[in-house]
Amino acid sequence: MIYFKDGEYLQEEQMNLSMNDRGYVFGDGVYEVIKVYDGVLYTAEEHMERLLESAAKIRLALPYTMEQLVGIAERLLQENELSVGHIYLQVTRGVAPRVHQFPDHSVSPVLTGYTVENPRPLEQLDKGAAMKSVEDMRWLRCDIKSLNLLGNVLAKQEAVEQGCQEALFVRDGIVREGSASNVFGIKDGILHTHPANNFILNGITRRVVLQLASDLSIPVQEKEFTLAEALAMDEFFFTSTNAEITPVVTIDRQPIGEGIPGPLTRQLQKLFDEQIPALVAAGHASERDSNGSTS
Ligand code: PDD
Repeated sequence: MIYFKDGEYLQEEQMNLSMNDRGYVFGDGVYEVIKVYDGVLYTAEEHMERLLESAAKIRLALPYTMEQLVGIAERLLQENELSVGHIYLQVTRGVAPRVHQFPDHSVSPVLTGYTVENPRPLEQLDKGAAMKSVEDMRWLRCDIKSLNLLGNVLAKQEAVEQGCQEALFVRDGIVREGSASNVFGIKDGILHTHPANNFILNGITRRVVLQLASDLSIPVQEKEFTLAEALAMDEFFFTSTNAEITPVVTIDRQPIGEGIPGPLTRQLQKLFDEQIPALVAAGHASERDSNGSTS
């Protein structure tokens, strides 16, 4: 496996990570997870833009452009011959003695990345998943894709211990998002989801789903809703880079609708699946162009 660190592509044993990296001691950094289908990055520019935005929100000046970041992800997936899986990229504020305030400007951010091979979760996409509601104890900047994930980790663990696949964060009685996903409900043909503000991460898959809903002429309401309203939805699903559009069949052991994946969820899943081959073909075509090959 080849890893990326600060401009170099390295074997694991060549990776020299410091105990004093602020990512390690403070979680002082941000990250991205980018899906790869058939050797092609999915929505790479959107992810890199969000990485740059997350970095800017924590006042971390990332010395890479969006194009350079996409280039790093592409090189990593080629080096590791990744077909289906994801790229993980993270940037920390750098290596410095452990004091809370920022180090001086001579300290450079540390950008690292690697690939993970993992198949699409086809069985869960088909059968659906169970969610457990959990009190949202996270900070108030959930719009930042921060390395600090303790609230998410504890929530997910609680859900898994109850035999569920994902946690459902509830803050002030309002359903916010999953521990590593965004959530949507469908009631009387209307798609409901939390507005993109400081209480949730504005997921890239969330944005894709909103576009697909518009393509299908499904009306959308980006407005807060309660846990009781979630339980009364006809359909429910969560979205993320790896989970794609996962139907939710129960919340807190209570069935949603008929307790099986709903028809509009199925339509959105179908449209999501259908866009992948075209994107993959376009990705391979642009690779051929940049290699100067005509085959
Ligand atoms: N998590 N909300 C939270 C809290 C998340 O951690 C994620 C993704 C999402 C969905 O975002 P996207 O559609 O851009 O993947 C929403 C990633 C995949 C993770 O931490 O592994």
